[in-house]
Amino acid sequence: MATTAASLRKLAENPPSNAAERRALYDAAKAVMFAVEAPIDTEHRLFFVASSSGSRVEPYYYRLLRYVAAIGLVKEVSEGTFAASNLTATAATKSFKLGLDFHEGSKNLLTLPKYLSETGYRNPTDPNTSLFAKIHGAGIMDLLQQNPERAATVFEYMAEHRKHLPTWMNDAVSTKDFEMSDIDHNSNRIMMVDVGGGSGHQCFALRAAFPQLRGKMVVQDITVMVDMIDKEEASAIDLEPMAHDFFTPQPVKHAKVYYMRNVLHDWSNEPAAKILQQLRPAMTADSVVVIDEIVIPPTGANHKLLHYDFAMMSTASSMERTEKQWRALVESCGMKLRDIWVYDEDMQWALIVAVPN
Ligand SMILES: C[S@@+](CC[C@H](N)C(=O)[O-])C[C@H]1O[C@@H](n2cnc3c(N)ncnc32)[C@H](O)[C@@H]1O
Repeated sequence: MATTAASLRKLAENPPSNAAERRALYDAAKAVMFAVEAPIDTEHRLFFVASSSGSRVEPYYYRLLRYVAAIGLVKEVSEGTFAASNLTATAATKSFKLGLDFHEGSKNLLTLPKYLSETGYRNPTDPNTSLFAKIHGAGIMDLLQQNPERAATVFEYMAEHRKHLPTWMNDAVSTKDFEMSDIDHNSNRIMMVDVGGGSGHQCFALRAAFPQLRGKMVVQDITVMVDMIDKEEASAIDLEPMAHDFFTPQPVKHAKVYYMRNVLHDWSNEPAAKILQQLRPAMTADSVVVIDEIVIPPTGANHKLLHYDFAMMSTASSMERTEKQWRALVESCGMKLRDIWVYDEDMQWALIVAVPN
């Protein structure tokens, strides 16, 4: 046993650089940690990390750093001396800082058990009675509409937080659905509508990754978000920002692609179906809806996916979905699910392609 521990420590000093090997080691080490962890370790690892990671109080630096070293975010070099670790760089990124601001509302996860006991352990589906709404006095989407400062944080966070993760725009999936014929092009058909697209960062990324794809794009969102888009930058890539409420009929008809990233997971089945139903009459035979979301595997989902599921439950009374749930949702809106292309195995991010029935 002592030799196993010693070899693990050696490995920690000189980890492999290959990404797949690192991932396999990470998962294996975590499995060992979970298997040998005592109840007191679990309490400290989960409860204290959860409560201090959202804390914005002025730190007593030494006590704080000693703790932060214990969870790996800095190194404790000697008594009272600390140095940056590989994770310090992550904690110093803009996206991490924006994430802390964004997830401030998710501190409510700690009060989720109390909320569920008060609501009879019913699966929450109404954003107006979500835990977030109970704490903040309004559902998250209503709050964003009323509070431009908070909306600006979400706007930036959405653009930043997945920048360093695998993307489907890395030739991971086919872009055939985005390709326009000469007839499409000459009739000014819209190539893509990014519905609930925030800053339009996915349109900018698409143009940069596939400059050969022809056709204008439209990014739609609520007015407060659309107003933050730089109109000159958008026009330079032939992108039109458009204020549009996705619960009302889709005004852009016959686009090649209606794309939605991280939109439907904000809503339980009834409102999510309402959003999809607004697209169906706008589609023509070869239009597709591309839903860019997590697909939870039927068994053995990793804790990060399920953390998102709980975050959606507490923040918006919504959910992450399995393939079966996506299929049922899409089929309830006059479409069929044609493909699921997973482009990030770890996070199970996928493009779910729906076509008219
Ligand atoms: C989780 S964010 C996703 C943003 C972007 N698609 C992305 O992946 O980064 C959800 C987006 O839906 C927008 N949204 C919420 N309610 C909306 C509505 N009724 N009509 C249009 N957009 C809405 C929000 O403003 C926000 O930008």
